[in-house]
Amino acid sequence: MKLLTLETTCDETAAAVVDDRLHVLGSVVASQDDLHRRYGGVVPEIASRAHLERILPIIDRTLQQAGIGLEQLDAVAVASTPGLAGSLLVGLVAAKTLCVVLDIPLITFNHLQAHVYACRLASGREVFPCVGLIVSGGHTSLYRCPNPLEFELLGATIDDAAGEAFDKVANMLGLPYPGGPSIQRAAQRGNPAAYRFPRALVRDTERLDFSFSGLKTAVRYTIAGPGRPDFEKVKLSDQQVADLAASFQEAVVDCLVAKAFLALDQTGMRVLCVGGGVAANARLRQRLAEEAQRRDVQLHIAPKELCTDNAVMGAIAVERFKAGRFEPLDVDIQPGVERKTG
Ligand code: KG4
Ligand code: ZN
Repeated sequence: MKLLTLETTCDETAAAVVDDRLHVLGSVVASQDDLHRRYGGVVPEIASRAHLERILPIIDRTLQQAGIGLEQLDAVAVASTPGLAGSLLVGLVAAKTLCVVLDIPLITFNHLQAHVYACRLASGREVFPCVGLIVSGGHTSLYRCPNPLEFELLGATIDDAAGEAFDKVANMLGLPYPGGPSIQRAAQRGNPAAYRFPRALVRDTERLDFSFSGLKTAVRYTIAGPGRPDFEKVKLSDQQVADLAASFQEAVVDCLVAKAFLALDQTGMRVLCVGGGVAANARLRQRLAEEAQRRDVQLHIAPKELCTDNAVMGAIAVERFKAGRFEPLDVDIQPGVERKTG
């Protein structure tokens, strides 16, 4: 069985071909970083137009890599939630069209659940049941995942996503976009204890939510100094930038580590899977590894190329294929993030 998977939720246009044994036969990712860099963040209209130009050539290249023709596909799967509306639509319409033309079933999947599944792919063995922590530019969410078809949202950010905070703080510090890698680089020369930034909700041992907007504001006020709201005019030394980057990074990492292990305590699960662009962060990886070892928790963090957006993680659709979970051709996108129930 061969599946074409498509990913167009945000600013990466990606396609992959995977088989029922989770072998990756082809995978192509086109990043749009160069198109959005000058704006310091993803511009939705630019993103959807770029997807439109790229999706068909990328599907072609992926099939070529896999050495197969369209007629050898058994189904097409596409990430249909959550994401930017215009971007999601391009992927879904491409998938539906292929399904109509080839007369094969359509599968949709949740992009965040696919990020958790990236750990299953990378580890090469079973990771379920597990707690999934997804930290990206658009999302910071914790899931209880009893099996690859069942995901219960345990908590999420109530304001900014962790990656969004990295990007915005990098901008304040005059560091290039995307902010995560820039802050990580600057932080290597900095002192994480130089500034004491807030760790929102960390002392709340019931709730599994995150909040990063107060932290972002705290960095802004620290740069401006008392009574100087026009922080753009402040000139920071290289050492100040490094110390601010390191102190900010440490605060984000503290929050992520605390809530991930609280989720493990609350669910009684012993396996933690981490994905999303921010999971590429070296300090986060180090702290999670230390804590997992201390608590005898099995930790799976996807390798960098599977942490950032890609279509290989769409292999979660293999599980849906096996369970016969197909979608009608009038299925729609769901741009918004799901909310906790109960
Ligand atoms: O998962 P992703 O590629 O796209 C979204 O779905 O959002 O994540 C992109 C985010 C950006 O905010 C970027 O700054 C962040 O991941 N990121 C990092 C690192 N590498 C990428 N954040 C912290 N440290 C990194 N090394
Ligand atoms: Zn993502």
